[in-house]
Amino acid sequence: MSDKVYIFDTTLRDGEQSPGATMNMAEKITMARQLEKLGVDIIEAGFPAASQGDFDAVTKIAESVGDIQVAGLCRALISDIDRAYDAVKHARNPRIHTFIATSDIHMKHKFNKEPEQILEMARKAVRHAASLTPNVEFSAEDASRSRWDFLAQVVEAAIEEGATTINIPDTVGYAQPEEFGKLITYLLETVPNSDKAVFSVHCHNDLGLGVANTLAAIKAGARQAEVTLSGIGERAGNAALEEVIMALHTRKDYYDVETSIVTEHLFPSCRRLATTIGQPISPYKAIVGANAFAHESGIHQDGMLKNRQTYEIMTPESIGKKGTSIVIGKHSGRNALGSKLTEMGYHLDDTQIAAVFKAIKTLADKKEEIFDEDVEALVLEEAYRIHDLYRVKELSVFSGTAGVSPHAAIVLEDFSKGSEDPVQIQEVGFGGGPINAVFSTINKMVGRDPKLELYSVNAVTGGTDAQGAVMVHITDNGVKSIGRGSDEDIIVASAKAYINAINRIERMKQEKQNA
Ligand code: KIV
Ligand code: ZN
Repeated sequence: MSDKVYIFDTTLRDGEQSPGATMNMAEKITMARQLEKLGVDIIEAGFPAASQGDFDAVTKIAESVGDIQVAGLCRALISDIDRAYDAVKHARNPRIHTFIATSDIHMKHKFNKEPEQILEMARKAVRHAASLTPNVEFSAEDASRSRWDFLAQVVEAAIEEGATTINIPDTVGYAQPEEFGKLITYLLETVPNSDKAVFSVHCHNDLGLGVANTLAAIKAGARQAEVTLSGIGERAGNAALEEVIMALHTRKDYYDVETSIVTEHLFPSCRRLATTIGQPISPYKAIVGANAFAHESGIHQDGMLKNRQTYEIMTPESIGKKGTSIVIGKHSGRNALGSKLTEMGYHLDDTQIAAVFKAIKTLADKKEEIFDEDVEALVLEEAYRIHDLYRVKELSVFSGTAGVSPHAAIVLEDFSKGSEDPVQIQEVGFGGGPINAVFSTINKMVGRDPKLELYSVNAVTGGTDAQGAVMVHITDNGVKSIGRGSDEDIIVASAKAYINAINRIERMKQEKQNA
């Protein structure tokens, strides 16, 4: 029988901490459920000591999933470890993931400590974590730039103290595949108790080698891969889950390992993430990009018609690239929508289904075909928005050629006074263009003047009647926030995204006050 490679997904931790990928609680929970359906073995749900929001999210995810292991990241500090355990202990299978850097450059400049002191901190941290749960992972941050002999010493100590998984991160994406594979072989052969732990790798993509390094390490004997959907993560991201999985799957002859991933859920999972964070999948993205299975050249098309295997090493069906079986349209009833949502992996209550149903009916009046992406965008819009303090009720914009001063008239529902019934506020304002007019009018209404750092608009599907998905990044008094909104009218989508970003700032302010 082939060995199993455990898939440790860190989309909700390393992925979520990257710019533009912030998710609210409901979005995180729905992603965690999707990851469970995909078949990952471990979800890293967050970094509980980082903030109250992270702690709450990890707790909620731990409570919401089934048998899947839920890891909480923590520095090698007793207080961090306790905080992580307090959050993950609600899971059926909790894991503590503690880390400390082992490279000379990190030990000297981040900690100003000698290697012996770091070794002692690692020992103490793992010992404490192992007193709370038998499922302890230890990571030697910046392992690929650490001295191999010192790294081996730390790894041996961590296993002695009770770590059952040893993670070797290529934190800065510096390693080269052959060299990284050799490091894993060296550790497996040199560390006397290496057979007592699963060796794991966590590769960043700074030189575009995250997946290659992960695969080289698996070939050398690593049996856990830390990955993220679509490769999101710090800087250039992490090794992409779908790429690692399809390499192992397509080249089973070469790797001879198994995973528990249900490959047919790969594309729906990446699409779910893209819709949630409002960042579309690049058409050239391996495995899940729109062009990944498109054959354009005549010679290729001819070959494909004769035998698909001429140019196709895997099928679109194997990654779940096909429509789901229930098609939603103008005449679909609520039950059909309910079944569709379940098929897509959403668990919504009746009120949420009713809100999505109403939005789909409105959209179906304007749009010929309703795609899964449309349903997903509406679910996020209607069911998973963070609790709004302001909501767009009415909006009209006037703009045109030179000589016309673009202006916006907006009515907002204001829930900020704390009552269930919102107060309506209205305002008219001018701007250099229609979006500028909308944003500056909203600023007047909410009494803020944030700096717009980024504005992007993408079509949710193809077709001229597609919904627009807008993402904004704003900074207000040093606080950064991201907002997303979708609508068949891109100006309305822009207003929703801007209000969403402001709601998040208000929410952070409230959380700070409560804390
Ligand atoms: O990149 C890294 O080293 C990490 C560790 C905390 C595992 O994310
Ligand atoms: Zn990382």
